[in-house]
Amino acid sequence: MRAIARAHANIALIKYWGKADVRRNLPAVPSLSLTLDGLLTQTEVELDASLVADQVYLDGQELSGLPYQRVKQLLDNLRVLAEVHTPMRVTSHNHFPTAAGLASSASGFAALVVAAGHALDLGLSAEQQSAFARAASASAGRSIFGGWVELLAGADSARQVAPGSHLDVEMLVAVTRRGPKQVASTRGMQHTLETSPYYPAWVGAAPAVFDRGKGALLARDLGALGRAMEHSTLLMHASMLAADPAIIYFAPPTIAILERVRELRAAGTEAYFTMDAGPHVKVLTPSGFSARVFTALSEVPGVLEVLRCTPGPAAHLVEAE
Ligand code: PMV
Repeated sequence: MRAIARAHANIALIKYWGKADVRRNLPAVPSLSLTLDGLLTQTEVELDASLVADQVYLDGQELSGLPYQRVKQLLDNLRVLAEVHTPMRVTSHNHFPTAAGLASSASGFAALVVAAGHALDLGLSAEQQSAFARAASASAGRSIFGGWVELLAGADSARQVAPGSHLDVEMLVAVTRRGPKQVASTRGMQHTLETSPYYPAWVGAAPAVFDRGKGALLARDLGALGRAMEHSTLLMHASMLAADPAIIYFAPPTIAILERVRELRAAGTEAYFTMDAGPHVKVLTPSGFSARVFTALSEVPGVLEVLRCTPGPAAHLVEAE
């Protein structure tokens, strides 16, 4: 039994940071994301009774340690449901234009659930796929769906709010550094929860910002959506900055990009920024402005590369036998 699946990364406009239940990996705050076309993971899963344990390859490297354990845990959860004990070989490739630590866990776990679910012939619904992916990495629960997606606080699974075509936008990713992120999100969230006096304020403020962002999305009001996105982003980063010791994902080019986005807007080009657990900046802009924003971001000193992404599709099966 063998299956190949594809999934796309997503970027949160309204951010998730903090867990309501660490063991079950349930988010403490609601989030809203856009699945992106450009950033793709393709994963093949094959059941192989000749193996003594699961084997996992990511971009040609065999995984071990914690990354391996997270994959194995997800496969174990699916095997329990399938009442199967057979080890699996997982071969995954990130087709990202760059390996800059860009939300690859979201597309990775989403592709893994779809491929392994089919290899085990589980017939999972999208909701069930999202719940399994969310248990591995909350943002991965959102990558099961295409377009605009929400994951509510304490929710088991994400769901689509609107298809990608709902708003004619692009998300530009300004890459500012190569290599993996400094503080992994799970550890960063826990540290924020344990030491930041602003964490309760963040959790308290998040639902209203989410409602504002979702309302703006449904009303197709990009300006209000963009402003809610920037507010959510900076509220989240403020909670991290107030941790002890502080978690600082900003690098010098990060600040320069934020300033450039504000200048563009002041000059009449609609563009809005967001950042995650890394120094890269993602900029949301109407498709008609995207070429102009691409040039402006490319010119900021310290920007290594700018990726242009359109709204992307749901995770899906490519092949199964
Ligand atoms: O799902 P995780 O553990 O990769 O955490 C994602 C956290 C952020 O990217 C910072 C925000 C988000 O909602 O995607």
